[in-house]
Amino acid sequence: MEELIRALPKAELHVHVEGTLEPEMMFDLAARNGVALRFASVEEVRAAYAFTDLQSFLDIYYEGMAVLLTERDFHDLARAYFQRAHTDGVRHAELFFDPQAHTGRAVPFETVVNGLHAAIEEARAEFGISALLILCFLRHLPAEQAMATLEEALPFLDRIAAVGLDSSEAGHPPADFVEVYARARAEGLRAVAHAGEEGPPEYVRQALDLLGVERIDHGVRSEEDPALLERLVREGVPLTMCPLSNVKLRVVDRLEDHNLKRLLDAGVRVLINSDDPAYFGGYIGQNYVETAEALALTRDEVVTIARNSLEATFLDDAAKAELLAEIDEVAARLV
Ligand code: HPA
Ligand code: ZN
Repeated sequence: MEELIRALPKAELHVHVEGTLEPEMMFDLAARNGVALRFASVEEVRAAYAFTDLQSFLDIYYEGMAVLLTERDFHDLARAYFQRAHTDGVRHAELFFDPQAHTGRAVPFETVVNGLHAAIEEARAEFGISALLILCFLRHLPAEQAMATLEEALPFLDRIAAVGLDSSEAGHPPADFVEVYARARAEGLRAVAHAGEEGPPEYVRQALDLLGVERIDHGVRSEEDPALLERLVREGVPLTMCPLSNVKLRVVDRLEDHNLKRLLDAGVRVLINSDDPAYFGGYIGQNYVETAEALALTRDEVVTIARNSLEATFLDDAAKAELLAEIDEVAARLV
């Protein structure tokens, strides 16, 4: 199974680039930039990654970002991700980034985008990975600040494919961001949003109906609403699920309890991603391997999930068709 998983061409569509900051790099960048950390060692950092819910993770996630200051830092961060993704057979990635978590610390928007973009260009040449950027709005901050961030992004729209919505979900419904999403879509950006991770199925509906999103990030709690689930199937809405993240943040108790397989059986277009792999104990390959094991996925089901990941990308039809043909070839050989 591991060989099949690695060999399948895959897309990763739910990964926060700031969530790929490994403790080792955190220390390297802290030293390079003269930033003080409250931790004495990598082991101490890892020991602090014991989360009880989404917020307990977000607090330490925003804290860790303090070491990211220069274009080179953002470049190095993304480059390290692409290297890992390459070994897992990722051929296309759509990376979330949180500009407000940086501009709020006086790091200019363009520093972030230029650093990430440089790594994206290199990844294509070095690893044969294509990548796009998804600008995420922090939903715990006011919608006016999201709009100001979108305006800051306007000169860089050739480097940004879509907008997303992340951070603390409960109490911050998609409905708060209707205006900024309308503006983003008018500017030609695609749209996704985190919904139904900790928030209710109603937030998934709002993301679809009010924000016009093309994918739902997580969507775990959609299952609580049968009519919504039926709609996701009917409309073919992809759910970018992140099983190891859901265990670490106690969205589910155990991986064996995850609803990914039930949703797959019901006809939902589910995919497997890593979310914040430096914090949640595994990159995309590990997410596939552990989920396949815990839910007893068949080889055919694993191929279906990889296929879903490619079909759900923002790539054009020709690029999708090329990767899908490769999946057929790998499946014929290894299934
Ligand atoms: N949920 C919401 N916001 C986030 C996450 C997540 O899993 N990771 C990084 N920001
Ligand atoms: Zn996420």
